Parts: sequence; C-alpha cells; structure tokens
Amino acid sequence: MDFKIAVSGRSWGERAAAEPQAGKHGEARRLVAVLELTNISKHFGAIQAVNDVSLSIEPGQVVGLMGDNGAGKSTLVKMIAGNFRPSHGTMQMDGKDLILHKPVEARQHGIEIVHQDLALCNNLTAAANVYLGRELRRGVGPFRILDYAAMYKRAGQIFAVLKSETRPRDLVKQMSGGQRQAVAIARTMLSQAKIVLMDEPTAAISVRQVAEVLNLIRHLRDQGISVVLISHRMPDVFDVADRVIVMRRGRKVADKTIASSSPEEVTGLITGAIEQVS
Ligand SMILES: Nc1ncnc2c1ncn2[C@@H]1O[C@H](COP(=O)(O)OP(=O)(O)O)[C@@H](O)[C@H]1O
Ligand SMILES: [Mg+2]
Repeated sequence: MDFKIAVSGRSWGERAAAEPQAGKHGEARRLVAVLELTNISKHFGAIQAVNDVSLSIEPGQVVGLMGDNGAGKSTLVKMIAGNFRPSHGTMQMDGKDLILHKPVEARQHGIEIVHQDLALCNNLTAAANVYLGRELRRGVGPFRILDYAAMYKRAGQIFAVLKSETRPRDLVKQMSGGQRQAVAIARTMLSQAKIVLMDEPTAAISVRQVAEVLNLIRHLRDQGISVVLISHRMPDVFDVADRVIVMRRGRKVADKTIASSSPEEVTGLITGAIEQVS
C-alpha cells in the first residue's frame, strides 16, 4: 500500500519501528512522556472540578480514566483538548510547555478528541464525515473543486488501517454504533495524532460493537498513538488499557498499571470505600 500518513514527519510504519511501545499491561520499558500534566486544577466559580492532578502519558499507551459522575474526567480531558484553560498548573508535550487557547491549537499539536456524542452528520457519507471541515480540493484558483475521489480513497485506506468494515460511501445514518465510532476515530487519524482522547465511546452501544471499538483502540495504539479512554465499563478498561487512573471529586486517587490493580480495587476507589492508593 502506497498510503502513508506522516506522524512527527515520519510514516506510521517508520514511527512504530523507531519507537518501541509500552506494551500491554505496562511491562515494557518507560519512554519519554508524550504529555505531562503538573498540578492541574480547574474551578468553575466555587466548584473545584479538577483539583491538583498530575499525570503523564507515554507513547502508544492506553490509559483508562475512571470515576463516578462529576469526578472531573471530562473537565480534565477538555483541558488537554483545549476546550478549557486550567485555573492552575502546567501541561507539557514532548518536554515543551503546552499552552492551549482553543481546540484547534490542541489539534495542531496532535491531540484529538472524540466527544461522547461523536458530532457526526447523519445525512452524509462516512468519507464526508471523516473530512468534515478539512475537505480535499483539486484544481487551481476559482476552479478548485472538492476532490471526492481522493477523499473516498483515503477514507477507505484509513478504515483498512483500522481493520473496520465501514465503507466510505455508506451514509452514517445507516450505520451501527460501532461503525459510527470508527468514523469518528478515522477522523482523528487524518492529522498527525499523537494522543486520542475518547469520552465514553462504549457507553451506548451493543456488546458486539464494544468489541469492535476496543479493537479500534488497539489499532490506534499499534500506530504508536496514545489513547485516554474515559469509561464507566470496568471490563473494557481491564481488557484494553495498560494503566488505569481513578478520579474522585476532582482528585486523582489512583494511577496504576492494570496488572497491579483489580476491578474490585478500582470500584472501591471510585466509590470512596478505598481512600487512595499509590
Ligand atoms: N462548564 C461547566 N460549568 C460549571 N460546572 C461544570 C462545568 N463542567 C463541569 N462542571 C462541574 O464540574 C464537576 C466535574 O464535572 P465533569 O468533568 O463533567 O465530571 P465527569 O466527566 O467525571 O462526570 C461537576 O461538578 C460538574 O457539575
Ligand atoms: Mg463526563
């Protein structure tokens, strides 16, 4: 396949070869963090949504982010995605300060977010949704027209990389929940994504489709892309993640490898039955 998407100026294949990934369940060697948050807080008036959270995310690592409703998960990822500015604390990407004023700046740094509602246009094709707002054109000057052939072709190639059966010309309104996730994830792969943030991707889909979405996450990881997976579903996190971070009332109460934790421990941390683990 002649198809290549550059990541950090190199193709996926080259990148994957050059940067050994932190293996599943975290037994592989540690790498320089892609993203590092130091003492990050966010308050909305009197509400302390995120309180003094520090964490780092390594290349090709899948991090499960868990916590009860209102724990601060969405607020945390929205700061990473440039939707909110932290009230306190600093973020660094590849060792350099990361200051984001708006989501487009996060995207320029290779940070992509798949929102819970996916934000797809139902009456458009898969390819049109993948390219929404970033359409390819051909020709010159006033004669530039949308290059549908190129968009169908490249969208098809991205679905192939994701091992998804989604077809570029299918209308989104006729798709299953799993295929819709594939479209939303394919969109993140157009750019040079380094981190993909996913907010509850398996909350509203059937069991069979959950497996499909978890496979999409594995394919992102295999490209060396880091994934932050917000989820309420313990089996999903324990299936696909290398690490689990638990938040409670805005604070990080655990940050462990999957291998060193258990669903029982994480449940206790979420509910507060277990205060905190180090
Ligand atoms: N835009 C906002 N304005 C005011 N309060 C907010 C806003 N977004 C979130 N919050 C509050 O911040 C806290 C954390 O919310 P959120 O990050 O959505 O939690 P989670 O995603 O873990 O359910 C909640 O108390 C919520 O009501
Ligand atoms: Mg949320």
